[in-house]
Amino acid sequence: MPLTFDVANALPFLPSDWLSARLESLSRAQNMLETGQGPGGEYTGWVSLPETFSETVLTEIKAAAARIRQQSEVLVVVGIGGSYLGARAVLELITSPNYNLIARDTPQVFFAGQTLSPDALNELLTLLEGKDFSINVISKSGTTMETSAAFLLLQDLLEARYGTDGARQRIFITTDTHEGPLRETALSMGYEVFPLPGNIGGRYSVLTAVGLLPLAACGIDIDALLSGALELRHQLKQPGPDNPAWQYAAARHALYQSGKQIELLVSYEPVFRQLGEWWKQLFGESEGKEGRGLFPSTAEFSADLHSMGQYIQEGPRHLFETVVWFEACQGPCPLPARAQEDGLSFLQGQDLHHVARQAFLGTLCAHVDGGVPNLLLCLPDRSAVSVGGLLYFFQYSCALSAYLLDVNPFDQPGVEAYKRNIQALLGKPGLETLRKTLTSRFS
Ligand code: PA5
Repeated sequence: MPLTFDVANALPFLPSDWLSARLESLSRAQNMLETGQGPGGEYTGWVSLPETFSETVLTEIKAAAARIRQQSEVLVVVGIGGSYLGARAVLELITSPNYNLIARDTPQVFFAGQTLSPDALNELLTLLEGKDFSINVISKSGTTMETSAAFLLLQDLLEARYGTDGARQRIFITTDTHEGPLRETALSMGYEVFPLPGNIGGRYSVLTAVGLLPLAACGIDIDALLSGALELRHQLKQPGPDNPAWQYAAARHALYQSGKQIELLVSYEPVFRQLGEWWKQLFGESEGKEGRGLFPSTAEFSADLHSMGQYIQEGPRHLFETVVWFEACQGPCPLPARAQEDGLSFLQGQDLHHVARQAFLGTLCAHVDGGVPNLLLCLPDRSAVSVGGLLYFFQYSCALSAYLLDVNPFDQPGVEAYKRNIQALLGKPGLETLRKTLTSRFS
């Protein structure tokens, strides 16, 4: 079993029909997802992707990844939101947040395009001094300001350093299969282009070239990632009350309807931090609309038990936790036995994994006793297969959850609103009227 979902520690807070009362809606939601007949149905290409992934694209990704590895000390991944969070999350979860310190035969990775801070971008340019680097620019729309700004700076640096032809070998573009200004630039400049299929939106794109190219360049086994996703795909497409995605979506929905407003995704692994960021975007952008949706938040235990633990234990009872637990760690870590007797003797000789497990169980009991429902997701390990399964599980559950809320899981009108305002304020042609309206508010 690659992944298990356990609702037992939320049951005291749920009505007895938390699942049965939602079976019909879940069946409808799954049907919309599988047939693409629901709201946003034109963006459900990711649902069957693990079954249909193009061998040609996979081969091209691996070939480009090999070239990136061979020619670069650093790969700069340029993208924001769904165009970078997945790659970063998977890289850190499978390797480490310290990947750049431990990478030996693969390039270091810098992530750019998530900020408009001149200081951050100037620092990046300084860090690249004297290093051979390539860039992977990722944007579905090709119009995102943060990504475009970083691309312009890095393209300039590459051309100054390697000439236009040399730069061309080091610029890899991932964008919409059919349209957009980034696609046009790539084609006119002769950059290698990787497809983000038109029927897949940014936050559901980690298992396309968006995530797979940078991950392959870093030596992640992308075949294993896809096979883990495929395993979950086979499991989750079976409708019914035993389906763990149905259970997770139903439990979240029932907790939301009982007044919970916040879902806290918890892990005990520092390597999980970026996965939490990816999850927040996935659920936040899919559900948070029309005045509805749980607020997705994250915590890293046990660190945050020493900062947020008090609030979780005794603050307003408007939250529940979803805890992700990995059964295996990568190696033993026994605490040394020492000769002298002191207050810590009971710890001596115990393995840290056992200590962490007791922290997990003790915290679970304390929080449940304090009125915080706990949902539990267990994974055997953080191998590429398990992580691929987890990504697919979250994507599938998220889309079902949004349909249960009766919102479109695949649009993001709120994100578009701010993007348009920035473009207008910066003088993009065609947005003159909006620019006037906005500037009048600040004069
Ligand atoms: O989920 C989404 O669609 C957004 O968050 C996008 O991923 C993000 O805004 C980046 O957009 P783009 O890939 O068009 O640059």
